[in-house]
Amino acid sequence: MRSAVTERHRGGHRGRRFHPCTLPEAAANTRRRRVEWHHGPVEPEEHPTVDDDPWADHAPGWDDDPAARAYSAAAYRSLIDLLSEHGRSVGGMTVCDFGCGTGLLTEQLVDEAESIDAVDASPAMLEVLTAKIADRGWTNVRTATDIPSGSDTHDLVVCSSVCSFLDDYPGTVRRLAELLRPGGVFVQWDWERDGDTDGDGLSRSEIFDALTAAGFSGVHVATAFEVPFEGEVMRPLIGVGRRPLPDRP
Ligand SMILES: C[S@@+](CC[C@H](N)C(=O)[O-])C[C@H]1O[C@@H](n2cnc3c(N)ncnc32)[C@H](O)[C@@H]1O
Repeated sequence: MRSAVTERHRGGHRGRRFHPCTLPEAAANTRRRRVEWHHGPVEPEEHPTVDDDPWADHAPGWDDDPAARAYSAAAYRSLIDLLSEHGRSVGGMTVCDFGCGTGLLTEQLVDEAESIDAVDASPAMLEVLTAKIADRGWTNVRTATDIPSGSDTHDLVVCSSVCSFLDDYPGTVRRLAELLRPGGVFVQWDWERDGDTDGDGLSRSEIFDALTAAGFSGVHVATAFEVPFEGEVMRPLIGVGRRPLPDRP
């Protein structure tokens, strides 16, 4: 029998929505599925102004969502554990928080990291983060709507609950891999999608294949943590890869 959690991962739970009328039907359905995350249904007509920023409705209240906060706190803890297993820490690292949203993960890294490029395609999400940067006087966080140009510039790329929303997930991972210096670490967290169904999230094999194709070494995919969510326990995946060090002569 299919569990409630499985049902949700397959798309049985419909929540985060945007107004799909500006997109072709098929693309709208795909985008709507990707935007759905974990809230109760919202009818599109309730949001007639959301056109090309599917996250605009969610940005103002994002930080008040206990599930979003719990997810990013657990992601941070799993990151720290992962790095410490390899004798490393965020201290002094140049970081790219890709799909940063309002900066729930950025704000946990900001005190330790040397600098953070906080990247998100949603101007509304970045607006919340920009206000936070000003309020809190952070001088080491830059926001952008696209991945910084250049290569070999970062020590750590983190992607918290973003990769399953991307139109070109493998291509984006390849671009993010170029940012990393040799030995740099890529980490993503996403809901697990079971099998080959068209549900939400990513499967373990999709993550493994994308990270391997991006040239990472030491790729592994595992259950990241448990988070309570609407009376259930959810178990997102963590995918990890390292930019290989050059071969020694
Ligand atoms: C579920 S939210 C997660 C936000 C944040 N990482 C957190 O944990 O609170 C997904 C985020 O991915 C962003 N996103 C979706 N597609 C993107 C893309 N192609 N490039 C950058 N960000 C993207 C959305 O704008 C949204 O802020």
